[in-house]
Amino acid sequence: MVLWKIKCLYSRDNELMNKLKSLRIHVLIIFLTGIITSCSEPGERKRLSFNEDWRFSKGVESEAYLSSFDDSLWRKLNVPHDWAIEGPFDKSYDTRTGALPVSGTAWYRKHFIIDAEKEGQSITLEFDGVMNNAEVFINGIKAASRPFGYIGFEVNLTPHIKFGEENIIAVKVAPEELSSRWYPGAGIYRNVWLEIKDPVHVAHWGTYITTPDVSDEQASVSIETTIDNSSNLSGKYSLKTFVIDSSGVIVATARSKVNFLKQEDAVLSQSVVVQKPVKWDLDNPYLYNTRSVLYRNGSIIDTYESSFGIRTIEYSSENGFLLNGRQERFKGVCLHHDLGPLGAAVNYRATERQLQIMKSMGVNAIRTSHNPPSPEQLELCDKLGIMVQVEAFDCWKEGKVENGYNKYWDEWHERDLRDMIKRDRNHPSVVMWSIGNEIKEQRMKSGGAMAAHLVDICHEEDPTRPVTAGFNSYPACINNGLADAVDLVGFNYKPTQYDKVLSQHPDWMVYGAETSSCVSSRGVYHLPVENYDRHTSLQVSSYDIISPPWAYPPDFETYAQETMPRSLGEFVWTGFDYIGEPTPYNGRDNETHGKWGGDWPSRSSYFGTVDLCGFPKDRYFYYQSIWTEEAMVHILPHWNWEDSEHKLIPVFCYTNCDEAELFLNDRSLGRKVMGEDKTEIPAEFIWWKKTETTWESPYRLRWDVVYEPGELKVVAYKDGKIMAEKRQLTAGKPSQIALVPDKTIIEADGYDLSFITVRVEDENGNICPLADDLIQFKIEGPAEIAAVGNGNAATTEPFIADYRKAFNGLCLLIVKSKKGERGLVGIEATSKYLRTAQLELVTK
Ligand code: GAL
Repeated sequence: MVLWKIKCLYSRDNELMNKLKSLRIHVLIIFLTGIITSCSEPGERKRLSFNEDWRFSKGVESEAYLSSFDDSLWRKLNVPHDWAIEGPFDKSYDTRTGALPVSGTAWYRKHFIIDAEKEGQSITLEFDGVMNNAEVFINGIKAASRPFGYIGFEVNLTPHIKFGEENIIAVKVAPEELSSRWYPGAGIYRNVWLEIKDPVHVAHWGTYITTPDVSDEQASVSIETTIDNSSNLSGKYSLKTFVIDSSGVIVATARSKVNFLKQEDAVLSQSVVVQKPVKWDLDNPYLYNTRSVLYRNGSIIDTYESSFGIRTIEYSSENGFLLNGRQERFKGVCLHHDLGPLGAAVNYRATERQLQIMKSMGVNAIRTSHNPPSPEQLELCDKLGIMVQVEAFDCWKEGKVENGYNKYWDEWHERDLRDMIKRDRNHPSVVMWSIGNEIKEQRMKSGGAMAAHLVDICHEEDPTRPVTAGFNSYPACINNGLADAVDLVGFNYKPTQYDKVLSQHPDWMVYGAETSSCVSSRGVYHLPVENYDRHTSLQVSSYDIISPPWAYPPDFETYAQETMPRSLGEFVWTGFDYIGEPTPYNGRDNETHGKWGGDWPSRSSYFGTVDLCGFPKDRYFYYQSIWTEEAMVHILPHWNWEDSEHKLIPVFCYTNCDEAELFLNDRSLGRKVMGEDKTEIPAEFIWWKKTETTWESPYRLRWDVVYEPGELKVVAYKDGKIMAEKRQLTAGKPSQIALVPDKTIIEADGYDLSFITVRVEDENGNICPLADDLIQFKIEGPAEIAAVGNGNAATTEPFIADYRKAFNGLCLLIVKSKKGERGLVGIEATSKYLRTAQLELVTK
């Protein structure tokens, strides 16, 4: 009976869908002055990319908002655009923000025409994010401003548009110096969209979809739809909402009449049942869509699509976190928003690659530290099955930097927080909201009340997810009531306190909002194994034991999590290296007037489990051994020590198997058992009130090996059976380049990328782990170099260039397609002493 009903709805509604499709229009955007036109039925919503053909100028141009302003000599570019990543690096800029020009005033202008036929329609622009202090002018009139760089906003152009004539959008972007603790990027760094729609339409971020009851048999889906009726056009309105599965089949439909009260928005609540729902989960991130179709007097006037998932989340102090009824620990990482050498400009493929690399390490969750992420990041987490803690702020009213968000707090915090939740609350991947990271109010009397106010806002906008914050001031955050105000208590670097806190607050749920903060440079090993030594090389040893004084090597948190079943898990600081905050090389000096920069040219972080290019450091394998099940084993360091004064080389091993055996040139150096053969870690820390200088880690194995060139091999066993192997070979002299692309075919859409790993190899194809050859790139055909990098945190070589030195044997070339240009792309990499490498890509 039920099946029959669905079938009927499906066939009838499919007819409607076909009709909708046949109404599709063609939109022409003509270069320079884009003419936006259509031959469709009036009233159908169009959402068009507004990224192309902007004109850009950096500098104060006080008249640039005027239509009459002459911008013909300005640089032409497409957004998303981050002017700061273009450099150059300079010591006079703050190294905490990457020693790049992240402040100043710049203007973006775009000329466009909206077809005269569109008169009477609503015309809006949606900025996914502008970094920062944006002011938007249309035809010389200020239409919007938004100080916060991480939130999207809609601008209503309707009253100011001249239909059939040229219109000019001018955007002033004016980030101040000393306004961030990390690299923020600068400019219109996220996507921009133009929407043309009926004056009565589904509002911006206008649907809120929840799944209040979910079982294997059925799921109830509630859809709250806000309809914007600022025009007050009279008529009989109704709303149909279709729920569509991932293969395009309509699985449920809701219909409602809309009664407007004058010019107010209408909020409609609908509820449907989906039979045999496929649940969104980590290994099957299944998505549904809703299509909201709005009618006036029986004709369609608007359609609006939203993606959502059906899944349950539950939190309790007894069972921790349950996803679809199954206990899951957060195996999380914190991520800043930059995309390494590409800077902060949003790119779908680069974001996808970041998340794929994290997932391959075993990550099941990310924390968007310390700000709302790009819409693309959440879309990708939905698609890849990664849970997300979306974070709002790094500070409240009390600032951390001179020109921080605290300046805008009073006027904007409520709007920004509500908008973040409205924007993101349909994503199944989002499992908690964070109202702040290490906010100063932890130490202030007002902290508890402020937290309660923010938590209330979150609960009002979305009662289905808990609210959290990351606390580092212990026990201050408890004493002033702040920790009690949130639903989940996140601690930054407090693994030794979890037990105590839980015994004092048995009903709390706690987790590591930020953990470890271990630092290392990929492929760098200082002997003997040391703790937190500073080097003139400005590199950090990769034995994975060095952390700043407030933090711990990763093993400590692993131990705390394992011995405390009631923790919800952890978010490691950080998954990727990011630009800025170059701890431990973040000294201040006189030359930079007390600004950070005393360890010039160290300019990006060492915290990542992978470097700025996404190349794994050893720590990536540490977490893989803790978080994944498929047998793996890893050994460090490299095996090229012939020129070293040290002849006894400590070899560390990470594995998720039971035992491992090390072989040097086929001679066994003995088997060791995980958990039993512990490894002493030299680290000064306070462990349950006792100051210790070493700790025995059950999570790594160690052999001290008398160096002899050749092959170092590790074999891992489970239940006595060989499960995994890895080798480190003594490489010969650097003699050739190898190019290894992640994709050989890319879309000719002007956005898609191929990430090409550039290896310096010896004659036999072994990577040369110390090579630093300068490599020159040449590219021919329909693609261009988007950026280069090598993961070295202490170099001022530009990211936008056609050359790069290898860093410990590797560098990265990122190639981008050109829109609409299809064909073969030839790439050549040359270096003075190395055999040339060539590669062909296809753009299609
Ligand atoms: C934390 C802070 C992070 C980052 C980290 C480095 O205290 O929340 O943003 O600065 O330290 O260890």
